[in-house]
Amino acid sequence: MTMSTVEAMIARALNVDVARLTGDIGYQSIAEWDSFAHVNLMLALGEEMGVEITNDEMVELTSVGAIKAFAEARIADDARVPDVAEPRQGVTPPAGAAIQRGLSGVTFDRSAITHIDGDGGRLSYRGYDIGDLAEHATFEEAVWLLLEGELPSALELAGFRAALGELRTIPEPTLAILGAMQEAHPMDALRTAVSAMGALAPSVGAAKHAGLHLIAQTPALIAAHHALRSGRTPAAHTPRLSLPHDFLRMLLGREPSPDLVRLMDQDLIVHADHSANASTFAARVATGCGVGMHAAVTAALSTFAGPLHGGAVEQALRQVDAIGSPEKVASYVRDRQCRNQPVMGFGHRVYRTEDPRVRHFRATAAALSRQYGNTRAFETVEALVEAMQPFARLGIGPNVDLYAGLVYRLLGLPDDLACAIFAAGRMPGWVAHIHEQRAENILIRPLLKYVGPEGRAFVSLADRARLPAAGLAA
Ligand code: COA
Repeated sequence: MTMSTVEAMIARALNVDVARLTGDIGYQSIAEWDSFAHVNLMLALGEEMGVEITNDEMVELTSVGAIKAFAEARIADDARVPDVAEPRQGVTPPAGAAIQRGLSGVTFDRSAITHIDGDGGRLSYRGYDIGDLAEHATFEEAVWLLLEGELPSALELAGFRAALGELRTIPEPTLAILGAMQEAHPMDALRTAVSAMGALAPSVGAAKHAGLHLIAQTPALIAAHHALRSGRTPAAHTPRLSLPHDFLRMLLGREPSPDLVRLMDQDLIVHADHSANASTFAARVATGCGVGMHAAVTAALSTFAGPLHGGAVEQALRQVDAIGSPEKVASYVRDRQCRNQPVMGFGHRVYRTEDPRVRHFRATAAALSRQYGNTRAFETVEALVEAMQPFARLGIGPNVDLYAGLVYRLLGLPDDLACAIFAAGRMPGWVAHIHEQRAENILIRPLLKYVGPEGRAFVSLADRARLPAAGLAA
């Protein structure tokens, strides 16, 4: 098959002259390309290429250019001659191969989204420093930047803000599921709701649309679950408000001050992406297997909730309460050391200096503590930083979770919401990475070095020891 037969096929299916197939005609841009003709076109394309066009592809192949690129890629694939002389070998790690436990220091792919300079303590999205973005941009600008690679024009931003406002609606069945989970942790409720939405509305399957839905809906899901468990009716979303403004309004159940809205805006920007962190890696692994947007984000949310990852923000608050006051910090740190347990809110797989996100949250926590006349927890955290100074030389500095939870507590929100708020900020990062993974997909499948017993002869059930194994006896 050649490109000219592809063009002829498009022209035939749309019933137009082949000369009209220029780059600027697309679905619904001409009367002949209506939804009925589009379905026919997709069926003809599938038949011509000998493939089944999926629903996702059907939503994406809406221009002559996209269809030609799709056909070109298939033609190139077909032209590739398999190397029959050398069948692919299985891969077994050589006996002495180094093991990178936890994939520490392993670079598994290229990315143009977020750069972390772990030694210099710098973080940038698409080349823009997060400090600059937090100071000068809005969350919607940062989301556009992460997804599109460039800062939006004023016109693009206005349209994008409006679109995110409209997409915030939560489907009725998902609200009912949230209502049935009033006792659940907000992260469990959010993960379940996202998974349920993927199952209940597979028509939102096109990755681009599904991603935007999730970015817009996540704040509404968190706020609705919180309202339901607090005995309130979830507040309806207000599409004309910015996402951070509407999120805070729905969470608090009242209109927040402009200062608090700006604070939430900056928080969400600072949370928005963090390169190959564990949850993003989970999303990319799931995407690598070919699952859809909701399934990959569900994997990310499951991972994120862990106490060594996003869940650390809640643990750091518990830690402040367990310590009680600045005077008790030194003995707490000694005790953790003796038990060989980490001090929460310190250390990071990538940073060898202070996490650059700390600056924003420390300043905010300090300002809010003063403003609300409630400085004890902040002073305890500052004493903890002081007590952990000797570890800073070893590269174990404060991380984002140390102060972030304090900020939400000072706003009067329950501690268990902190991780979910963080997740609402991180959603565009996950979505951007899922798109990037899909664009040049590869199965992510490392190896494990087998260290168990080998070559054992099977023992029949009757001949095995009568006593149960110790672990099962209890
Ligand atoms: N408190 C005390 N010791 C710590 C520590 C902490 N918070 N973080 C790291 N260390 C120790 C490790 O135990 C290790 O000691 P060892 O060499 O004797 O085994 C050493 O410092 C080096 O650890 P490192 O390789 O830098 O950390 P990691 O990549 O294995 O772990 C974390 C990274 C995030 C899991 C770890 O720092 C941690 O558990 N922190 C607390 C949880 C937290 O705040 N998570 C949020 C991260 S944003």
